[in-house]
Amino acid sequence: MSLLEIKNLSFEAANKKILENIQLTVDEGDFLSITGPSGSGKSTLLKIIATISSKTSGEFFYNGKPIESYEPTEYRKEVSYCFQSPVLFGETVKDNLAFPYTIREMKFDETKAVEYLKTVGLPEEYLDKTINSLSGGEKQRIALIRNVLFQPKILLLDEVTSALDEENRQIIWKWLQDMRQKTKMTILMISHNEEEAALADKHIHIVTGKIVGKGGAENGFTS
Ligand SMILES: Nc1ncnc2c1ncn2[C@@H]1O[C@H](COP(=O)(O)OP(=O)(O)OP(=O)(O)O)[C@@H](O)[C@H]1O
Ligand SMILES: [Mg+2]
Repeated sequence: MSLLEIKNLSFEAANKKILENIQLTVDEGDFLSITGPSGSGKSTLLKIIATISSKTSGEFFYNGKPIESYEPTEYRKEVSYCFQSPVLFGETVKDNLAFPYTIREMKFDETKAVEYLKTVGLPEEYLDKTINSLSGGEKQRIALIRNVLFQPKILLLDEVTSALDEENRQIIWKWLQDMRQKTKMTILMISHNEEEAALADKHIHIVTGKIVGKGGAENGFTS
């Protein structure tokens, strides 16, 4: 049984077809990259998978059960979406990193949060920084940490390294690869960067709402 199974999925908004007849299966442990021109529907697809948006038609199964049968807040603990423009809240970095613990009614694990901050090149002092004082690339990294403090089954990444320089991008890539090796985390990643997309072992290319190319590692990058 596949982890995700999407059949004939379409999404319409404002009388416009944004996604059309999407067919996609994702197995546990897959690392799938999603490429395509701006406005082609990539983020829309991930938001539907994240249950932030709802499909207009078609079928969508997670672990063999229709998406409608899941309680959204429970589902989102397993399938975690990292927004294209990071959304931080509260006042400080700590407010954001404590949030995954708060919703689980658990005590904030500051040691783990600091360890993750350091992994992405940010010192411990960042915990008390106000979110307004962060750069775009720093916000992206904080949002990513918030998404993986409790490792999801599926991590949905929407251009999460777009504001990072080459060095920090490499750090994030290595970190993601390490997490994948330790667990069976499944990753779906939208990227405009060919080198980044090539890290994945499966690829799909979307143009005007349709999947126009699919490939595995053996086929290379086929956009
Ligand atoms: N709720 C909505 N109502 C109307 N139009 C929408 C809605 N959601 C998305 N769109 C439109 O659908 C198209 C696809 O948007 P989407 O954000 O999925 O593109 P994308 O491939 O992620 O682009 P980018 O690479 O620029 O991030 C765009 O033209 C967008 O304006
Ligand atoms: Mg997008």
